[in-house]
Amino acid sequence: MESPTISRFSLVTCVLLLSSSVAFAQTSTDSESTYSRAGADSCIACHEDAATMSIFKTPHAVPTDARSPFGSGQLQCEACHGPGGEHAGRVRRGQERPPVIRFGSGTATTIVEQNGVCLDCHSGDAGFAWHGSGHDDNEVACADCHQVHIAHDPVLQTANQPDVCFDCHQQQRSQALKPYSHPFSEGKMDCSGCHSPHGETTDRLFVRQTLNDTCFECHAEKRGPYLWEHAPVAEDCSTCHDPHGSNHPGMVSLRGPMLCQTCHSQADHQSFANGPDGLADGTASKYLLGRNCMNCHTQVHGSNHPSGSKLMR
Ligand code: HEC
Ligand code: HEC
Ligand code: HEC
Ligand code: HEC
Ligand code: HEC
Ligand code: HEC
Ligand code: HEC
Ligand code: HEC
Ligand code: HEC
Ligand code: HEC
Repeated sequence: MESPTISRFSLVTCVLLLSSSVAFAQTSTDSESTYSRAGADSCIACHEDAATMSIFKTPHAVPTDARSPFGSGQLQCEACHGPGGEHAGRVRRGQERPPVIRFGSGTATTIVEQNGVCLDCHSGDAGFAWHGSGHDDNEVACADCHQVHIAHDPVLQTANQPDVCFDCHQQQRSQALKPYSHPFSEGKMDCSGCHSPHGETTDRLFVRQTLNDTCFECHAEKRGPYLWEHAPVAEDCSTCHDPHGSNHPGMVSLRGPMLCQTCHSQADHQSFANGPDGLADGTASKYLLGRNCMNCHTQVHGSNHPSGSKLMR
């Protein structure tokens, strides 16, 4: 206890927490668990490692913010880890130290209890519709995505967020590695451009009411209105695009003309798809080279030209 490091940290928190010592007279209704006498000071007497201490560099340790765990009248470490009086106390030889709340999958604390701690303070935040979301239903923990003992939580950084999600979403990881994708690997875009991980009341956690409205957030020019609409575009962009990445230019799910011919019969006009021998077999129009159907039908998202009904201008 004489260690100079420990007393320095204690002094720091004493200053931070001067006005909040009153909180620690509080005891839980459960007689087994009480709050520690000295709050964070008792905890960091034993947990003074750098990883634990970096919580003081985060928005959770703002003494001037009354809502913060370190704000006046709040419970500091125990606002999250629960009553730690017995845990922080003397433990007889051979006896186990009574546990406190731990976070993340694979700890003794249930996910529901863990998330309950966080939601006590956060369920009122804007955009929070956690209950019943895909992540809630599957018992994903807040702490599976968030790290709170770190100055810059990776999931809140555009460049680092996708890696947090890819831990569980392997299929999207492999799509994002394909040659044509939204610029995830360049660190210019993250998943929360399109998804709201706390569960919006929308399908697949989209940030806007529908899939297309989500795309229009950034690709507003595709919204139209068009004089000549192309029905599948107005309906669902993902009919033709793989938003997480694909092997084809323009992030389309199939190479043209096959993409177009999933709906359009080739019988109508000369628009044969490449045969197994490519164009050399004479069955395909030379116009199907390169951008193929789009050589002529350039306005595949819709046209505003008076004679654009065939999406050619
Ligand atoms: C007297 C020393 C001591 C004090 C004071 C103390 N702890 Fe601990 N704590 C430990 C030890 C030792 C462990 C390792 C696990 C065990 O033995 O149960 C631990 C484990 C933990 C763990 C789980 C991490 C792990 O590696 O198992 C958390 C979280 C924790 N303590 C939080 C707190 C909080 C919050 C306080 C203040 C209320 C606190 N501790 C006070 C000694 C202490
Ligand atoms: C005692 C209340 C309280 C508890 C408990 C709490 N938080 Fe917070 N949290 C806050 C406050 C206050 C802020 C700062 C909000 C602001 O600045 O608008 C915050 C901010 C955050 C932020 C944003 C951080 C940033 O860098 O912008 C995240 C993420 C967060 N909390 C997650 C959690 C998680 C996960 C838990 C549970 C392990 C949790 N919180 C428990 C009060 C709390
Ligand atoms: C699937 C991953 C994931 C889970 C699980 C998750 N979050 Fe988040 N959280 C994020 C991301 C991503 C952001 C940034 C959102 C953005 O950029 O719009 C965020 C932002 C936040 C913020 C900052 C305020 C804000 O909305 O910008 C708070 C507070 C927060 N989360 C709390 C929680 C709490 C509490 C839980 C558990 C009930 C939780 N989160 C579960 C990924 C997650
Ligand atoms: C806002 C809620 C919150 C506060 C306040 C908080 N912690 Fe934590 N603590 C967590 C979460 C969540 C984790 C899991 C790792 C992470 O997300 O960074 C954790 C992890 C830990 C660990 C490692 C435990 C393990 O399971 O490996 C220790 C030790 C710990 N905290 C001690 C403390 C001490 C000491 C304080 C006060 C100085 C404190 N915590 C304040 C939420 C909190
Ligand atoms: C700890 C594992 C885990 C992490 C980390 C995680 N997810 Fe999930 N996610 C799941 C599970 C489990 C489901 C539900 C089953 C499924 O659809 O695969 C899910 C579902 C989803 C869904 C579909 C929801 C629906 O209603 O159809 C989206 C979108 C999603 N996650 C986005 C994200 C984003 C974005 C991140 C990172 C910010 C993320 N996830 C991080 C586990 C995780
Ligand atoms: C450009 C918008 C966009 C971005 C950015 C985005 N998604 Fe999606 N996501 C979608 C669309 C659209 C769907 C539904 C169609 C589909 O699955 O292809 C979807 C569906 C999902 C699903 C559910 C899949 C299913 O089978 O129901 C998961 C999980 C998911 N995305 C995870 C992620 C992750 C992780 C990231 C970040 C790497 C991410 N998404 C980034 C648009 C996006
Ligand atoms: C948060 C902004 C954002 C949202 C939302 C968004 N995109 Fe994008 N999109 C981008 C950026 C950035 C690029 C890359 C532009 C560049 O490289 O010049 C891009 C490029 C594209 C490309 C062209 C790819 C290429 O290789 O030429 C397509 C197709 C695309 N997005 C489709 C979609 C679809 C479909 C949706 C809705 C599911 C969507 N986007 C939602 C930002 C967004
Ligand atoms: C009928 C199929 C189809 C649908 C549906 C569709 N697209 Fe496209 N999109 C294409 C094709 C084909 C390309 C051109 C690919 C290439 O360059 O080879 C393209 C290219 C793009 C590009 C990159 C080039 C450009 O024009 O800016 C963006 C962005 C884009 N689409 C967004 C969208 C959005 C947003 C939606 C939904 C509103 C949508 N697409 C619906 C077929 C479609
Ligand atoms: C998901 C199905 C689907 C896909 C894929 C699709 N289309 Fe269409 N397309 C339609 C429908 C439906 C119409 C409206 C037909 C009508 O009004 O009779 C249409 C209309 C058209 C028209 C105008 C036809 C007319 O008679 O006015 C052209 C040209 C066209 N599509 C070209 C394309 C091209 C080029 C592609 C590939 C990039 C493509 N389509 C992919 C469903 C699709
Ligand atoms: C060499 C230019 C050219 C190419 C390449 C081309 N088209 Fe056309 N397409 C036309 C013209 C011109 C019309 C208008 C015919 C008319 O008005 O009688 C048309 C009409 C259409 C129509 C409207 C229905 C019809 O038969 O009038 C559809 C659908 C269509 N094309 C789909 C496609 C698809 C799918 C491909 C690729 C497999 C394709 N086109 C390739 C020139 C082309």
